[in-house]
Amino acid sequence: MAVPKIVTELPGPISKDWLARDERSVSPSYSRPYPLVAERAEGLAVTDVDGNVFLDFSAGIAVCSTGHCHPEVVKEIQEQAARLIHMSGTDFFYREQVLMAETIAEITPGNFHKKSFFGNSGAEAVEAGFKLARYHSRRPRMLSYNSSFHGRTFGALSLTGSNSKYMRGFAPLVPGVTHVYFPFCFHCPFNHECDQCDFECINYIEDEVFRKYVPAEEVSAFVAEPILGEGGYVVPPDGYFQRLKKMLDSYGILFMCDEVQSGAGRTGKMFAIEHWGVEPDIICIAKGIASGMPLGICCASAEIMDWHRGAHASTFGANPVSCRAALKTISLLQNGLIDNARDKGKLLMKGLNEIKENYEIVGDVRGKGLMIGVEFVKDGKNTPDPQTSNKVLLDCFNGGVAFLPCGRSTIRFCPPLVVSEEECEIALEVFEKAVKANSFRF
Ligand SMILES: Cc1ncc(COP(=O)(O)O)c(C=O)c1O
Repeated sequence: MAVPKIVTELPGPISKDWLARDERSVSPSYSRPYPLVAERAEGLAVTDVDGNVFLDFSAGIAVCSTGHCHPEVVKEIQEQAARLIHMSGTDFFYREQVLMAETIAEITPGNFHKKSFFGNSGAEAVEAGFKLARYHSRRPRMLSYNSSFHGRTFGALSLTGSNSKYMRGFAPLVPGVTHVYFPFCFHCPFNHECDQCDFECINYIEDEVFRKYVPAEEVSAFVAEPILGEGGYVVPPDGYFQRLKKMLDSYGILFMCDEVQSGAGRTGKMFAIEHWGVEPDIICIAKGIASGMPLGICCASAEIMDWHRGAHASTFGANPVSCRAALKTISLLQNGLIDNARDKGKLLMKGLNEIKENYEIVGDVRGKGLMIGVEFVKDGKNTPDPQTSNKVLLDCFNGGVAFLPCGRSTIRFCPPLVVSEEECEIALEVFEKAVKANSFRF
């Protein structure tokens, strides 16, 4: 099948009809950047209701890790759906939940006894981690980043710090959360220090935050995305997380790692935190782990997961169909797809850095594996330029490649991990054309 293949004006006539019905009946809170009405998909090819075929470089927002409708994942789902769809792991037992917990214990960093809690989404995984950290430590406060995204339930939202649009109208949030700086992030006032790797941002937590307004002994956990997702695909400097973990350990503060977006092999390791050899106390997983089936996981050492019977549960968590999809996904990731993420990530990085050299509006290209952000700037490479970033995004959509934005003015490259060399080249070509078209505005 030729991909991309645009056969109508966008949106096409059938899409327009569905968009109108959507507007009448679906919550207006969703932030869709352009009108793609999907009908079916395979690999990276998403066909809309008008027959237009798009190359999906969003993976359904970093979810379809094995590509859309991977035949082996579909087979597992179909077989399981014909045998046992639901029994509720909160009240009964079944093999798939146990197999899932055993597998997660094996693939997450740290060679110690672990246990897993299951929900249905990233927010539920984070919410569970938040409650568990408080419960286990009996400490009332949390730390997180002011450029982070952790989800939209009240607990996860309270940890989030990347954009006030998520909080507007919902105050008061859960009290006791203090936000600190992520290194290399646009807002961080210590960025100049990162070059010397002195990690002023960590010293600041001890010297300012703990000394002046947050007693360290009241903090249960520090919640961290190892690579910022929604906040702009920002990678911290090497050595940062090792140093942070050491500091947290010295105060008995748990390190809770949100791998919802960066996990499931996307960065070229099963979990992004493995790039720095740090073992989280609590790890949250969702999105790509089940190739599109809903599954949120909060995994912790058995010592930390010490809550009482009835303390936390979710009716649909670890649904047997989702578990079978996840077990197959993990096996596919381990048998080639993580290596492919590393290889194709290098190829994309090379192509994007060449584009950056040639166009002033591209200010930064950063990332690991298939988690790459391209930031658009104006006025000589420093000021974020959301207007241009949005224009490029829309031009790419019209050219048949679906990307998604993040941060203030960044486009994310997060294709399914099955992406081929040819598909990378097509995406780079369409992207460069859009960058070029937006580079000469008078
Ligand atoms: C790092 C991170 N944590 C949590 C979430 C929330 O996940 P969900 O939308 O499945 O609730 C997201 C979603 O984008 C995320 O990127």
